[in-house]
Amino acid sequence: MYLSDELPTTTSYQKVLGCGCIIGGILFFMYFQIQQKPVSFIWKPVQVWYTPEQRIKRPTYINQDHAFCGPCPADKRFSTAWQLTDLVTLISPKTPFLLNIGAGTADGGIYDPTYPLLTNFTPLFSALLIDPSTNPSHFNAYPNRSNIHIIHDYIWSETIVENILQKYNISKYFTLLKVDIDSYECSLLQSILQSGYQPQIIHTEFNPIFAPPVIFIPIYNSTTKHDWKPPLWSSSGPFYGCSLSALSKLLLSFNYTLVELDFWDVIYIKRDIVELIQVQVPLNDKVAYEYGFMSHSCFAYCRGNVKLYNEHIDGAIKTALNQSNFTKYMTNIIDLFAPVSKKTNLKHPYIISI
Ligand SMILES: *[C@@H]1O[C@H](CO)[C@@H](O)[C@H](O)[C@H]1NC(C)=O
Ligand SMILES: *[C@@H]1O[C@H](CO)[C@@H](O)[C@H](O)[C@H]1NC(C)=O
Ligand SMILES: *[C@@H]1O[C@H](CO)[C@@H](O)[C@H](O)[C@H]1NC(C)=O
Ligand SMILES: *[C@@H]1O[C@H](CO)[C@@H](O)[C@H](O)[C@H]1NC(C)=O
Ligand SMILES: *[C@@H]1O[C@H](CO)[C@@H](O)[C@H](O)[C@H]1NC(C)=O
Ligand SMILES: *[C@@H]1O[C@H](CO)[C@@H](O)[C@H](O)[C@H]1NC(C)=O
Repeated sequence: MYLSDELPTTTSYQKVLGCGCIIGGILFFMYFQIQQKPVSFIWKPVQVWYTPEQRIKRPTYINQDHAFCGPCPADKRFSTAWQLTDLVTLISPKTPFLLNIGAGTADGGIYDPTYPLLTNFTPLFSALLIDPSTNPSHFNAYPNRSNIHIIHDYIWSETIVENILQKYNISKYFTLLKVDIDSYECSLLQSILQSGYQPQIIHTEFNPIFAPPVIFIPIYNSTTKHDWKPPLWSSSGPFYGCSLSALSKLLLSFNYTLVELDFWDVIYIKRDIVELIQVQVPLNDKVAYEYGFMSHSCFAYCRGNVKLYNEHIDGAIKTALNQSNFTKYMTNIIDLFAPVSKKTNLKHPYIISI
């Protein structure tokens, strides 16, 4: 898919071939050479799955992060996604490092998707675990060792680089960035990547209310971040994190490829590493979403969860996709759900588009 985007178009070839003479042939050859060059060093092809049947079979395991949706029974929370341990093993970092933003979970951290890496991976991971919660029961199962640090703080887009990445001397090419903040993931990731940090793997969450190709992004503003009622991260409605397409578009601009989608968890890997380890990737966001979220064994139990499915918005999206102005139609609907400023009574700004 990516490769064909870079190839010269058929019409360009036809124009050159049209002259039907030797010079034309030579020109064509030169043109072909020039056009081919960037292609070969930009992106090499990778293994792609188009349909679930083509997906390489993975062993099933219980993804504890899915406990969130309440009524889904434990034996339905299984996943056939690549686990982080599998992927990190393929990459085999010499000095593995994890930056985990939003590291606290019930039962001392054991439900965090990175927990197995910290307990069961050699060489031992160094890690910086961050969470605003100071409740020891959200952390006390993490290994107590000198190369794992826990910080209790909120993380903001405007301070992450100075207060965390630079302060703790984190390498530009660290192994794994995990983000779970239920709010401004897109803004935070943009700040980190824009500063030149290139984590090999990014594990984050998206807002599944907005299926591909819908772009939904709550616009972050450091001046008004405390003004919203409710704050995005404590919202019990559909207005919180950015959509899958928003996330993929942002990360693609930094050369990250979607590798895995497991319910609302997503894993992106730096494109050059995907080529190197030859891990299989989904064709696009849509097939990944349909397989990993809509067809997930927990989905049926989670439709009642207001952060996962909203009938009103779902219906509106279907109608809006057939309107001349998608954004205009959707704005009337999303405004109903947007948090309101305690100071100005204005609605939380956001982007909704296709
Ligand atoms: C971690 O281990 C150190 C020394 O082994 C000990 O002093 C400290 O209390 C431990 N911390 C926790 C949270 O258990
Ligand atoms: C920061 O890390 C680099 C290696 O990643 C090391 O060479 C350097 O000494 C470190 N600086 C500080 C201040 O710890
Ligand atoms: C952030 O909000 C303040 C106060 O409403 C406003 O003046 C400013 O323009 C906003 N910043 C951006 C980047 O939108
Ligand atoms: C993405 O990869 C291309 C090709 O290797 C490179 O030219 C470009 O600078 C990269 N972009 C970023 C943001 O790293
Ligand atoms: C979309 O609009 C076209 C014509 O405007 C109409 O024929 C079609 O039935 C519409 N589809 C849906 C799903 O509303
Ligand atoms: C769609 O509507 C929005 C306002 O809701 C407007 O800003 C935008 O220019 C419109 N786009 C088109 C293509 O008409």
